[in-house]
Amino acid sequence: MTVRLRVGIIGCGNMARHHVDGYLTTGRYDVAALADLDEEAMGDFDARFGLRTTHYRDARLMLDGERLDVVSICTWHTGHAPWTVTAAARRPKAILCEKPMAETLGRADEMLVACHRNSVKLVIGHQRRFLPAYTLARELIARGAIGRVSWLVSFGSQGLPNYSTHHADMFRYLLGDEECRWVMGNVERKTDRFERTTRIEDGAVAVFEFAGGARALILADITPAFFQGAHVYGTDGLIHLTTDTVQLLNAETGGVWQSHRPDGRFFKVAAEGDRFEWREGAAGQADELADWIAGTRDTHRGRAENAYKALEMIHAVYESARCHERVVLPLQTRVNPLDLMVESGHLAPQRPGAYDIRAFLLRGERLWGDDETAPRPPA
Ligand SMILES: NC(=O)c1ccc[n+]([C@@H]2O[C@H](COP(=O)([O-])OP(=O)(O)OC[C@H]3O[C@@H](n4cnc5c(N)ncnc54)[C@H](O)[C@@H]3O)[C@@H](O)[C@H]2O)c1
Repeated sequence: MTVRLRVGIIGCGNMARHHVDGYLTTGRYDVAALADLDEEAMGDFDARFGLRTTHYRDARLMLDGERLDVVSICTWHTGHAPWTVTAAARRPKAILCEKPMAETLGRADEMLVACHRNSVKLVIGHQRRFLPAYTLARELIARGAIGRVSWLVSFGSQGLPNYSTHHADMFRYLLGDEECRWVMGNVERKTDRFERTTRIEDGAVAVFEFAGGARALILADITPAFFQGAHVYGTDGLIHLTTDTVQLLNAETGGVWQSHRPDGRFFKVAAEGDRFEWREGAAGQADELADWIAGTRDTHRGRAENAYKALEMIHAVYESARCHERVVLPLQTRVNPLDLMVESGHLAPQRPGAYDIRAFLLRGERLWGDDETAPRPPA
């Protein structure tokens, strides 16, 4: 008989819904317990998924009382490191934490250390690695369908850590998890802009170079259009990738665009429409995690070491802007260089007044920050 994994969720908002959908789709998990500051958020989950879970207003009580195999961490970014460290100390088999991995590389390091020390598998939710279009594009590139990749180009929005850690992770995935060698970028920040309490820029441009010589470009909040995916330029062809479609142009296609919309292992593109990327990504991510835990697979595509590198690439953009130089990885700066720039007065907002572009997500009486009860490291 297959043993089902017992899951608890910390932070029952939008993204946690996709985690639960993924767990339930695989049929390999039981969602046993929920933790949120807001009782209504947990009630919504039970109603939506027909669950009978135990509710906790204090996630520590859930971690202590529930003998969980897997913990999902879906609070805002600044809760990721403290809750991962707290959960790891209780030694579940695995933690699935949302992206961006942490608000600083130093905190991301702490997550790796805590999970390593307690033998806990740590996955970060860059779930698009499980989209069949992304995997097809990766295979086409590996097989030389467009020759040698020279450029990957993507367009971001709503903050590099939020949106473009996905881009950085995708670049590496498409290139067979090649390492990024250096980063050069610049940011504009005239307004005091935050995203889920993380300081972000008003706009950014970034160039990355990878070990094999390919380069990538992100324009974020510089043009009106943005999307998850990429234009990939090779010496012998082109790929245009979105979350559900791969368009390929090379000599074999006769120099015209050939379109592929591959179905997933769990869901069909046509049946799910816009929901496809979320449902298929979450289910694939959860299924591979169950395999990793069972030992039938020796790693996970979304293992935290990959997410760390995506965060490092993004923080290297900020560090490049701060130091006015090309930043060679690994990045040595452990705090968020954008915070450093702003707090030192180097990049003071010219139009004062902090605002958060995700403030609309907050429930109840909380107006600023949503993780005030999260455990804190010693000062
Ligand atoms: N992988 C993706 O594509 C993707 C997409 C969207 C969001 N995300 C990530 O998911 C995370 C959550 O975003 P969201 O949009 O779901 O936010 P949300 O505001 O909808 O949900 C966050 C939930 O966490 C709860 N919470 C806050 N502090 C808590 C605490 N101390 N204990 C227990 N619960 C607590 C809040 O009450 C809220 O219900 C973010 O880090 C975001 O970057 C990832």
